[in-house]
Amino acid sequence: MESLLLFYCCLILLCPSLHPPLPSSISRLPLLSRAMFPLRVPILALLVSLTVGQYYDYDYQPYAQQSASSPNCAQECECPINFPTAMYCDSRKLKFVPIVPSGIKYLYLQNNLITEIKAGVFDNVTEDLRWLVLDQNQITSDKVAKGSIDKLTGLQKFFFSHNNLTEAIIPPSKSLDELKMTNNQLSKFHKASLSGMKNLTSVHLQHNKLTSESLNGVFKGLNSVLFIEVTNNKLKKLPSGMPSSLETFYADHNDISSISAGDLKELPKLAYLRLAYNKLTDAGISAGVFNVTNLVELDLSYNKLKSIPEINEQLEHLYLQVNQINKFDLGSICKFSGPLNYSRLKHLRLDGNNITHADLPSDSANCLRQATDIVFE
Ligand SMILES: *[C@@H]1O[C@H](CO)[C@@H](O)[C@H](O)[C@H]1NC(C)=O
Ligand SMILES: *[C@@H]1O[C@H](CO)[C@@H](O)[C@H](O)[C@H]1NC(C)=O
Ligand SMILES: *[C@@H]1O[C@H](CO)[C@@H](O)[C@H](O)[C@H]1NC(C)=O
Ligand SMILES: *[C@@H]1O[C@H](CO)[C@@H](O)[C@H](O)[C@H]1NC(C)=O
Ligand SMILES: *[C@@H]1O[C@H](CO)[C@@H](O)[C@H](O)[C@H]1NC(C)=O
Ligand SMILES: *[C@@H]1O[C@H](CO)[C@@H](O)[C@H](O)[C@H]1NC(C)=O
Repeated sequence: MESLLLFYCCLILLCPSLHPPLPSSISRLPLLSRAMFPLRVPILALLVSLTVGQYYDYDYQPYAQQSASSPNCAQECECPINFPTAMYCDSRKLKFVPIVPSGIKYLYLQNNLITEIKAGVFDNVTEDLRWLVLDQNQITSDKVAKGSIDKLTGLQKFFFSHNNLTEAIIPPSKSLDELKMTNNQLSKFHKASLSGMKNLTSVHLQHNKLTSESLNGVFKGLNSVLFIEVTNNKLKKLPSGMPSSLETFYADHNDISSISAGDLKELPKLAYLRLAYNKLTDAGISAGVFNVTNLVELDLSYNKLKSIPEINEQLEHLYLQVNQINKFDLGSICKFSGPLNYSRLKHLRLDGNNITHADLPSDSANCLRQATDIVFE
């Protein structure tokens, strides 16, 4: 009885400090979002800075003296005299891709009104062109002529986001290291189109209409790939033949309802897995599927889980908010607890479930000794 009283006293004394005081404008928000706010701010700030950083990473314009152009430049564009291998043709309402003169390695065509790419425009740079940026145009797959992109054998970065592509257009370059084709309407991805690209490290395909079938086998054998993002597509499960080098896989906002036992076994290096806003149920998660040693962050928030899935002791960040979890099964987190047997979990979110602080088993302290942040509401 005494210890119970003590427990309630602690609860009353400690709980307010779990939620730092909020500015008055925020305190009018619904309870759930209020409780989430302290976490959200840094995440949002990080996201914004990442997005901005990513967007501008190719937009660096070297200092050009009085916009003097080197002589070997398309007349619609600018090629800075102190950086003559770059040709800037972005944001000037172009309706076509100008003929690219020899010597150009970095070509910026983003934010124009281009609807097609004609054959021959890259004929003088087929081996030399390294970066091609076509973001924010209105190019459709059928208007990319044979004899254009399919001749580029030296490309390293190929950015083709925010266009009207329905089928992935991939240059035949063994040097490709970064591919971005987000915010199109891609539903087709030719299976062999990336084959042999041994230097490919990151692939961004978010906001398209890709299904698991359309991506099956596409990444097979590409053992340099570290990062794949396919958020906001139509996947129902993980595509087959994922590269064994993969470290980060983001597939939030899809229709994924199951993950089978073998799926992650093929990915021994996977550290960051995000599957928020999918259709995962307990039945769809086979036993031990997330029991992967290298996993550091696992986001299963906004799904339909009723219990905490079994995880490996190395996991540090587990996001389970907004599911239907109604019990705290410590065995999913620690199989044994002992001096050397404990979970590395630091952050655990369980808000938006049918579970409260009172459901935390009394013997959880040993297992969860590294947890700095367990959010229930
Ligand atoms: C591009 O190649 C054509 C031949 O295909 C040649 O006539 C022309 O001079 C080249 N232009 C430049 C700028 O290199
Ligand atoms: C590309 O898509 C946008 C938005 O869906 C649409 O407004 C535009 O007409 C399309 N352009 C072409 C050339 O299909
Ligand atoms: C792949 O990258 C390595 C290291 O940057 C480079 O030496 C090699 O030439 C690249 N391979 C191709 C085919 O570009
Ligand atoms: C989880 O992995 C550990 C070793 O990594 C193993 O002992 C255990 O049996 C696994 N559990 C399941 C359910 O696969
Ligand atoms: C964890 O506990 C189990 C069973 O007691 C034991 O077999 C295993 O070696 C322990 N692991 C570590 C890292 O202590
Ligand atoms: C929530 O949990 C309580 C007690 O564990 C249970 O009585 C109730 O039915 C649950 N509600 C839902 C919606 O699952």
